Amino acid sequence: MGTIQIANAGRLWRIGSAAKPVNQSDRDCIMKRILTLSIAIMAVSALSAGAADAKTTYEKDCAKCHGADGKGETKMGKKQGAKDYTDAKVQAELKDEAAFKAIKEGYKKDGKEVMKPSEGLSDDEIKGLVAYMRKFKK
Ligand code: HEC
Repeated sequence: MGTIQIANAGRLWRIGSAAKPVNQSDRDCIMKRILTLSIAIMAVSALSAGAADAKTTYEKDCAKCHGADGKGETKMGKKQGAKDYTDAKVQAELKDEAAFKAIKEGYKKDGKEVMKPSEGLSDDEIKGLVAYMRKFKK
């Protein structure tokens, strides 16, 4: 597959530069460009994948109570007593370890479970969710 792509790129290059024959060093140059470009694309998509994950998980699993905006003003959020995470005071009272523990093990208020433990989230994903919720702060 790789060789075919490089051969095609060579052909395009030849057409582009008015039928100039492609020599070995041109070909090396094209190959380097293709390599650099694919590495750059991979790096960018790896970065955005991490950031999108917390948002996707939050919107799928958490927003129904905490709200997409973190205010907890959803039907379920109000019923369960979710706090307003845009409030700087709420954010200040919430410690990272407590947030982590609540997401991992669930959260009880007066002995009643108001939030279930998360399922199938890695520690890194949980940390990503805590970081995501911190951004609600106004
Ligand atoms: C069924 C409703 C519900 C769902 C779904 C839910 N939560 Fe909660 N969560 C609550 C309630 C209620 C509280 C307690 C009041 C508060 O802190 O907002 C809480 C508390 C928290 C806290 C603070 C814990 C503390 O020690 O004060 C964090 C952080 C949190 N939730 C994150 C999440 C994340 C992340 C998700 C999604 C994976 C999620 N919650 C899903 C209802 C929910």
